Amino acid sequence: MTLRHFLRDDDVTQAEQAEILAIAAELKKDPFARRPLDGPRGVGVIFEKNSTRTRFSFELGIAQLGGHAVVVDGRDTQLGREETLGDTGSVLSRYVDAIVWRTFEQSRLDEMVVTATVPVVNALSNEFHPCQVLADLQTISERKGALAGLNLTYFGDGANNMAHSLLLGGVTAGMNVTVAAPAGFEPLPWILDAAAKRAAETGATVSVTGDPVVGATGADVLVTDTWTSMGQENDGLDRVGPFRPFQLNTALLANAAPEAIVLHCLPAHRGEEITDEVLDGAHSVVWDEAENRLHAQKALLVWLLAKAAA
Ligand code: CP
Ligand code: NVA
Repeated sequence: MTLRHFLRDDDVTQAEQAEILAIAAELKKDPFARRPLDGPRGVGVIFEKNSTRTRFSFELGIAQLGGHAVVVDGRDTQLGREETLGDTGSVLSRYVDAIVWRTFEQSRLDEMVVTATVPVVNALSNEFHPCQVLADLQTISERKGALAGLNLTYFGDGANNMAHSLLLGGVTAGMNVTVAAPAGFEPLPWILDAAAKRAAETGATVSVTGDPVVGATGADVLVTDTWTSMGQENDGLDRVGPFRPFQLNTALLANAAPEAIVLHCLPAHRGEEITDEVLDGAHSVVWDEAENRLHAQKALLVWLLAKAAA
């Protein structure tokens, strides 16, 4: 048995990421091709923050893999009261074959895996959103073919979970990743260091700019996300003014490569980080991206369960 977790994007190598994406493409063609959870075997899916896409895609995906998802709001469990994360990991491991968890600090996931004896999947933390980026990579490869060598730029809050996951996941795939962010909202230094380390292995590059036009120029893939992530609503920072020049609009997009594509993990704040014209325009692939959450997460579970069974 090889117990593997997926807490951040660089928990898998470039080759392993490609294996997962290949399974995702297979499952998109034939949704019921793999049944590792037949029984049904259980997967615990815990939310401590709101969700539409993650909740629907995991619950349905687990059913399509033959399993049963126990989906709970973390605030309804003993996790929200006095039980430790370690004890919770021990107990859940006796019931389910995998744990999928949307939470706050990444350190909470790190604490859970100390005692968990089944794979743990990060369904979004303050620092990372690696399941989203698997779906993003699937979407990009559908439109662009090979990922290595593509130029991807993220615009907006460079210190949020999407920026960090695109950095780690993007360079793992061999893409050149740029974060265009206002001063004070650059990616966390330790995550930039991890991205640079992985980039050195895959031949990719990492850069950060305060100039959105520099970020857009020649980009093959443009990505944005909310300026205010869940939990940041009252952090006292101005999350509008400094971000306005980074809005993904037609003028900014005009600097990109002619066949550039636009991604957004959603939910979108139309008129803030992205305009209607771009979100609904010819370059946007956001609905495919949302659909691919289902396929990519099923593939991830198939891959992790196969490792755990080996
Ligand atoms: N993109 C994403 O994770 O969406 P939800 O918050 O709706 O799950
Ligand atoms: N950065 C956003 C992503 C939502 C899917 C948040 O954490 O709220």
